[in-house]
Order: sequence, then C-alpha cells, then structure tokens
Amino acid sequence: MAKAYILNRTGKPKMEIRDETQCPLTRRAFTGGSTVALVAACSCMGQGQHYKAVGTPEAVMQEPVGSLLYVSFVAGSRGMWKIDRISPVTGATLPAAPRIDVVESATPQSRVADSLWQLQGVTSNVRYTTHDEVTELEAKQEGLNRPEARRAALIPIRKTSAWWALAQDERRKIFEETSHHIAIGIEYLPQIARRLHHSRELAEPFDFLTWFEYAPKHSDAFEELVRRLRSTKEWTYVDREVDIRLSRI
Ligand code: HEM
Repeated sequence: MAKAYILNRTGKPKMEIRDETQCPLTRRAFTGGSTVALVAACSCMGQGQHYKAVGTPEAVMQEPVGSLLYVSFVAGSRGMWKIDRISPVTGATLPAAPRIDVVESATPQSRVADSLWQLQGVTSNVRYTTHDEVTELEAKQEGLNRPEARRAALIPIRKTSAWWALAQDERRKIFEETSHHIAIGIEYLPQIARRLHHSRELAEPFDFLTWFEYAPKHSDAFEELVRRLRSTKEWTYVDREVDIRLSRI
C-alpha cells in the first residue's frame, strides 16, 4: 500500500494520509496505485502550506512552491461531484458529462486520457484586492470542503480582448469602483465558499475557472449573487461563460 504524508514547514511528516478520502489533493496519486512520492498543499489545510515532496517519505526532498496550486476539473466517469446541469451563459457551451473530478497538485497536470473534457487553472496572488478588502475577506470567508456544502458551481469565464487591453488601474475601477464585485461578493460570505483559478497564462480556453461550494439551503442566495454580478459593467467584458452546477456524491 502506498503511503503519502502532509509535511509541515520544516519538511517533517505531519500527518499520514491512509486513503484518498482524507485529502482530495492526493486522489490522483492514490488512484495511480504506485509509490506515492508527491505530497503538496491540501485545500483542507488552508493555503500557504504548499510543499512538493519528491522521493519516498523516508528520503524526502521537499521544495516550497509558494501558494500555487494547479487544479484540473476533469469531466468524465470519475469524481465526487455529479454534474446536475451545464448551462451556456455566453458563447460556446461545454459537452455533457456525468461527473467532475477535481484534481489538485503542486505542478501542472497532463491530460487524463479518458476524460470527456478537462480544464486546468492555477491559484495565484490577488490582482485587484486592496489590503482592507483582503482583511475583510479573510475575516469572513470559509474554506472549501465543508461537510454541509453539498452543492458546487464551476463557472469558467473568458474576458474580451478589450478587457485585457486595459491598464491595471482601469480594470480595477471597472471591477470594484463601478461593478462592486468584491462588495457584492462579501454579502454572500461565509455561506458561499470560493476559489479562483487563473487559466489565461496556461493557454486554456477560458481565462478563469471560478469554483464555489455551498449548502443546498443557500442555492437561492447563490442564484441571486450570480444574477447581480452578471448585470454589472464588468460582465460586459465577458465573452464566454458556462455555468456548471454540481452535487456532491
Ligand atoms: C462568493 C462571493 C464572491 C466573492 C467574495 C468574490 C471575490 C472576488 C475577489 C476578491 C476577486 C479579485 C481577486 C483579485 O484581486 O485578483 C474576484 C475575482 C473574480 N471573481 Fe469573484 N467573488 C465572488 C463571487 C463570484 C462569482 C459568483 C463569480 C462568477 C459568476 C465570480 C467571478 C470572478 C472572476 C471571473 C474573477 C476574476 C476577475 C479578473 O481578474 O478579471 N466571483 N472575486
């Protein structure tokens, strides 16, 4: 049986992961069934504990990889999220699929051979959020993988070339001062947990893969949130958006 460990900051094994249900990050390694040589950040342990281990746990060499976490959303027959519906919002939609497997790793991932489609993104630093906004978000937001959060939304978004032609300060003005993206979003914390993945730099079909988790009783609040954001000026710069809703199996 292969073994995997979560490492602490000094590289010492902090927790042994005995099966794939304990940490979604290791799922791919476990289903591979071979010697597990990779342990990286686990979203259940919070950001900022991202380490890559190479070799067996006994002869481990780890290198910090900052706060980057590569995440693939693999549509196919595996995964703990059942696809309830895929709705095109703007532009081309994505093909139907039964499930989505969320695969996390510290390094870029290759294509899964039998996937129906696959999207990859990477977590990153904030671009538009001010110090005070970060403080408020951190005080209010909840992490992913809460037991009660049995619904999720994956909303891949691409923005227009006009958006990308703007300067950083012009984009911030549209994003927050005009569209109030953060101010609106904060109203829905902590009920809605979120993680933003950047895909533009990975030459993917979308610029962002946005991921949200919430309890079934907060589904209506989530609908209201997306309706409000889609009516803002920021969304006039969105030229492709697909809304994928999921239930935890
Ligand atoms: C749960 C409430 C939400 C909060 C608190 C929130 C907060 C944020 C924050 C702080 C950023 C800026 C990150 C940065 O500085 O780079 C951001 C970016 C983004 N959010 Fe949200 N958001 C929420 C809901 C949503 C929803 C429902 C969608 C999609 C329908 C969405 C789509 C995006 C996109 C695409 C970006 C990237 C924008 C860009 O860089 O051009 N957000 N969000």
